[in-house]
Amino acid sequence: MWKPVTRSESVPLNGTLACRHQGWRILVVRTPAGLFALEDKCPHQEQTMGGGLVHEGVIECPWHSVAVELATGRITNTMGFLGMPPVRVFPVKEEDGSVLVDLPDGPPPPPPPLADD
Ligand code: FES
Repeated sequence: MWKPVTRSESVPLNGTLACRHQGWRILVVRTPAGLFALEDKCPHQEQTMGGGLVHEGVIECPWHSVAVELATGRITNTMGFLGMPPVRVFPVKEEDGSVLVDLPDGPPPPPPPLADD
């Protein structure tokens, strides 16, 4: 279901905006090719990717530089990050000055239990 998550002017070109909606952590990224929305949970250590370097359709996590393809969520720098799952991507659009993201109904699923649980 489409949910307004921020105002369009809050997402600069080649910049990011991290926001939350009903428990979802969302990262909105604007590039010359358009707007993208990802779950804002880096597959490395679940940090925010907000403020990461955006270039050539990729965002680099500002913590340890995992590179995530914006259109697919695929990890593109496998060196040191082999086997990491892709980042979830969401459909995104702009209407009447707002950014809307197509989020699943309800809160995000809980993380899987740790090996010691
Ligand atoms: S938390 Fe993103 S690369 Fe480590």
